[in-house]
Amino acid sequence: MTEQALRALFDALSQEEKIGQLLQLEAGFFAQSDFQTGPAAALGLQAQDAALCGSVLNLRGAEEAKAVQARFIRQHPHHIPLLLMLDVINGYETAFPIPLAQACSFRPELTQALCAAAAREASADGLHVTFSPMADLAADCRWGRVMESSGEDPLLCAAFSAAAVRGYQGDDLAHGGTLAACGKHFAGYGAPLAGSEYAQVELSPAAFQSDYLSGYRACIGAGSRLMMTAFNTVDGIPASGSKPLLRDLLRGQLGFEGLLISDYSAIAEMIRHGYAEDRRSAARLALEAGVDMEMVGVCYVRELDALVRSGEIPQRLIDEAAWRVLKLKNDLGLFEDPYRGADAEKFRACALENRTLAAQAAAETFVLLKNDGGLLPLGAQKAAFIGPYAESRALHGAWSFFCREADTVSIRQGVEALGKAAAFCKGAPLLAPGAIIPGFSADYVESETEETQATLLREAVRAASAAETVVLCLGEQRLQSGEGGSRAEPVLPAPQMQLLRAVRDVNPNIVLILFAGRPLLLRDVLPLCKSLLYVWFPGSMGGAAIAEVLYGEKEPVGRLSMSFPASVGQCPISYRALNTGRPEALVPTGRFHNGYQDCPSAPLFPFGFGLSYSAWQCGPLTADRAAFASGEHLVLTCTVRNIGRRKSSTVLQLYLQDVCASVCRPRRELKDWHHVTLAPGAETAVSFEVTERMLQFYGPDGALRAEAGEFRAYAGFDSGTQNACAFYFQ
Ligand code: NOJ
Repeated sequence: MTEQALRALFDALSQEEKIGQLLQLEAGFFAQSDFQTGPAAALGLQAQDAALCGSVLNLRGAEEAKAVQARFIRQHPHHIPLLLMLDVINGYETAFPIPLAQACSFRPELTQALCAAAAREASADGLHVTFSPMADLAADCRWGRVMESSGEDPLLCAAFSAAAVRGYQGDDLAHGGTLAACGKHFAGYGAPLAGSEYAQVELSPAAFQSDYLSGYRACIGAGSRLMMTAFNTVDGIPASGSKPLLRDLLRGQLGFEGLLISDYSAIAEMIRHGYAEDRRSAARLALEAGVDMEMVGVCYVRELDALVRSGEIPQRLIDEAAWRVLKLKNDLGLFEDPYRGADAEKFRACALENRTLAAQAAAETFVLLKNDGGLLPLGAQKAAFIGPYAESRALHGAWSFFCREADTVSIRQGVEALGKAAAFCKGAPLLAPGAIIPGFSADYVESETEETQATLLREAVRAASAAETVVLCLGEQRLQSGEGGSRAEPVLPAPQMQLLRAVRDVNPNIVLILFAGRPLLLRDVLPLCKSLLYVWFPGSMGGAAIAEVLYGEKEPVGRLSMSFPASVGQCPISYRALNTGRPEALVPTGRFHNGYQDCPSAPLFPFGFGLSYSAWQCGPLTADRAAFASGEHLVLTCTVRNIGRRKSSTVLQLYLQDVCASVCRPRRELKDWHHVTLAPGAETAVSFEVTERMLQFYGPDGALRAEAGEFRAYAGFDSGTQNACAFYFQ
């Protein structure tokens, strides 16, 4: 409808109806008719709240969505439709690789395509908004939600966050087949202390400004229609009630004009944080800070009216928030078509169509970490596929609630589809017998017993002895990462380590395939295998893509979006650390170095690392001039050569270091990258254009600046490259 018509509708709303728009309820609450007992009563919800609410969380199914919407509109005094929101994170029923894996492709355009495809599928199932992308910078693999991030690098994080927003929202939100995006979690949620879920965030203003805000800035820049607050505190204030963070920074400095939704029950949680005395003060703090909609909580519906009546908050704040909700509904075209083309058959067709993309995408995200002796790609040798992931279909990450395991392609199916003969056995339980991982709705309970574990191990040893090569398919259980998935020791589960050692005793030709939602600690694992392919959680077509890569039909092309620590004591670890006044303890000798006495300071695998099936060499990096000034640019060039025997692809990465600045700058920072594909023996010159923009950083005043002086450039195949040259900016 026109803005004028929307304004007229808004003006006709009562206070209760306006406040109703600020409430989001879980589908379960919304559907129920009994508000006298059970969870609704415990939360303090009343039937009238459901009748006037603005949005529903986790309602799925095109037919169900249409029925609920039709019923709701009919009974609403002004026939205002509901906004239907849900976490569509890496695909929907057809699951794509987890976001951390997607970032390993170094192809934001891939993520844009995946998000557009997920939006087509999920909107056909009735949804309007997805709580994605998660734009939190994440450098601590103890934190379970690194799986949902784009990793540790601000440039990569910004590029992937913006691409996701563009993918979901398309060119015109009013068109069906799109979803409104919600960048999250503002702010700093990716840096919980010691990787402990929901823990406080303690970041310096410099790191916060120039690194941790990058993803959110990118979401806003790409037009994300919603943003979500974070559970954590920043500077001792819960993000969901922080005026400096939300009203001053997010709305003021960063210019966000869309709808700001709290994270799940985060407004009420301010009481537990010790920041709000009660629901009333929590509601006041959140609204004053600028939160428009409360996700599953009753602080707003129960308290806002009284707060206005008592003069504690101005009516204007409620009006602004309710207006933003109506505006989003209008921009989504809900007043014209509240179903936005939801259709069960269309949904099925989209889910099916998305499987092709899921297979292509998965293969772009695998990272080859080791290939000693060139065991990969596999040839005609007799291979035994052993491990709990050899035949598993649970290849989707923790956020894929609707992925249908029955439709997922396992490694076994992928291998058999290629017509390869191989033996398969489970070898070990995923977790210790009886272990339980609490889930979102259902827990994972390890059903193997100690007896069956022993039998599985015996079978595995027999199969390994009879094979020329063993492909061990191991990893984390999918619920070990994701929200609430922090781990103090992110290692391979004990029964799987036992399996690895037992197999290694009888057959050293081990190709290890690792599934995980995070970088695992691999120091003990690495010497036990000859090849190591990290496949994260690859989604519905994971097994097909893994088989293609294993047998060389495709090459592993992923590059790490997070450093892999050598020891948990290094966490959080980032290649972007600042130099200290002392040398780094690369090898722990001597005293008074920066680092540890019992572990090198270097990661086990650096950010940007990943091998190919061929070998690559990079010539010296040269600059076309010694210096450049504002408005000019400089060109850095180096030659890359495929020195192996296969056609191959690699990612040449450019890092810069601002040698001396008014604020200490990182040892190096990723600034650009190029994908290069060459025939065996071929070489090509790759050039990077360096502009002033690349030299800029956010100063303590929040303003971008580039400072004159010396810069060092590095170009190579990972963040540890020593291929360098210098230039000056004047
Ligand atoms: C809590 C999570 O932190 C957030 O990312 C998610 O979108 C909501 N729950 C809704 O599921």
